[in-house]
Amino acid sequence: MKKTLRLLSWAAGLLVLAAAGFAAYVSLRGVPRYPVPTVGQVLPSTPARLAHGEQLATMMCMHCHRDPATNTFSGRALPEVGTALGQLHSANITQDPVYGIGKWTDVQLVGLLRTGIGADGRMRLVMPHFAYLSDEDAASLVAFLRSGDALVRATPTAQGPQQVSFLAKALTNTVMKPTPLLAHPADAPPATDPVALGHYLVVARYQCYYCHSRDFSTINQAHPEQSENYLGGGNAMLGDKLEPRVSRNLTMDPETGLGDWSEAQFSRAIQAGMSPHGPLYEPMPKFTALTNEEAHAIWAYLQTVPKIRNATPEDGALAGR
Ligand code: HEC
Ligand code: HEC
Repeated sequence: MKKTLRLLSWAAGLLVLAAAGFAAYVSLRGVPRYPVPTVGQVLPSTPARLAHGEQLATMMCMHCHRDPATNTFSGRALPEVGTALGQLHSANITQDPVYGIGKWTDVQLVGLLRTGIGADGRMRLVMPHFAYLSDEDAASLVAFLRSGDALVRATPTAQGPQQVSFLAKALTNTVMKPTPLLAHPADAPPATDPVALGHYLVVARYQCYYCHSRDFSTINQAHPEQSENYLGGGNAMLGDKLEPRVSRNLTMDPETGLGDWSEAQFSRAIQAGMSPHGPLYEPMPKFTALTNEEAHAIWAYLQTVPKIRNATPEDGALAGR
C-alpha cells in the first residue's frame, strides 16, 4: 500500500514536471514557424481579374482588414474575436513596404491565403485558410492588392507584434496547424451547375461554413464538411458592440434552419442583410456585391446539405447555446 502511494506521488510529480516543461517550452517558442509554402506561379493581373478581385475583397477581406481611421486595409484591433487567444489585430495589408505587404511576393501572398503561413514562416492566427480557393480567385485578389484602389494605397500605420496568450501558444504548438497545400480548382464551377458553384462559394470562397458551424475550434479547414455541426450554426461570436451574436442554422431543417424560408427571403438576407426575423448584424459580413447567380447557387447547394436540428437564439434558444 505504502509502496503504491509512493509510486503514485512520483508519477504525479513527474506529470507536474512534464507540464511545467511543456509550459516553459511553449512560452519560449511562441507561435511556431514553418517552411514558407511554394505555390505555383500566380496568374498575371488583367482588367477582368482586377474587377473581380475588388468584389471579392469587399466580401472576403474588408470586414477584418479595413481600418476605420484610415479607410484603407491598414488593419485594426479585433476585439470581437475575444481575448482567449490574446489581444489580436488584423495586419496592415496595404502596399506600404514597411508596415504593409509591399515587399511580399505574389507567391507568398497566395501561400498565406491557402495555408495560413506568412512570408516569414510564422503561422497567422484568426484569419481563415482559403485552401480550396481557385487559381483565378487567388490571382484576382492579388491583382486587387497590387492595384491603384484607394483601399490598398500605401498606409504607414504600424500594427505591431501580436499580443498572443499562453493558450494561443499552447494551441499552435499542438492542435492548431497550418493547412497543407491541397488540390484546388483552376476556376470556380460555372453557374450552369448551381449546386457545384454553391458548394464552392460556401466552403472555398466566402467560407460560410467557417462561421456557421459549431465552433472555430472544431472547424476542419482541410475537410470543411467534417467540421462539427457543419452549417448547423450555433457558433457563439461577438458583434461590433461586443454583444453576443450566435451564427444561425443554414441547413434546411424546417423548424430551426432555413427549411421554411423561400429563396427570395434567403437572397434578401444575404444580399441586403434583412432576414424575415429582422436586420442581420456583424459579424455576418455584408454580401452586397454578391450576384443573383451566386445567391441562387448557394441556395441550391444548401438544399443538398444534411439537415441538422439545432435551435439558435432567433428560434427562442438561449444565447450562447
Ligand atoms: C476573420 C478576419 C480576417 C479575414 C476575413 C481576413 N483576414 Fe487577413 N488577417 C487577419 C488577422 C487577424 C491577421 C494577422 C494574424 C497574425 O498576425 O497572426 C491577418 C493577416 C493577413 C496577412 C498577413 C500580413 C502580415 O504582414 O502579416 C495578409 C496578407 C492578409 N491577412 C490578407 C488577407 C486577405 C487578402 C483577405 C481576404 C481574402 C483576408 N486577409 C481576410 C484577419 C482576417
Ligand atoms: C464572419 C462570420 C460569418 C460568415 C463568414 C458568414 N456568416 Fe452568416 N451569419 C453570421 C452571424 C453571426 C449571423 C447572425 C447575425 C445576427 O445575429 O444578426 C449570421 C446570419 C446569417 C443568416 C440569417 C439566418 C437566420 O436564420 O436569420 C443567413 C441566411 C446567413 N448568415 C447566411 C450566410 C451565408 C450564405 C454566408 C456565406 C456566403 C454567411 N452567412 C457567412 C456569421 C457569418
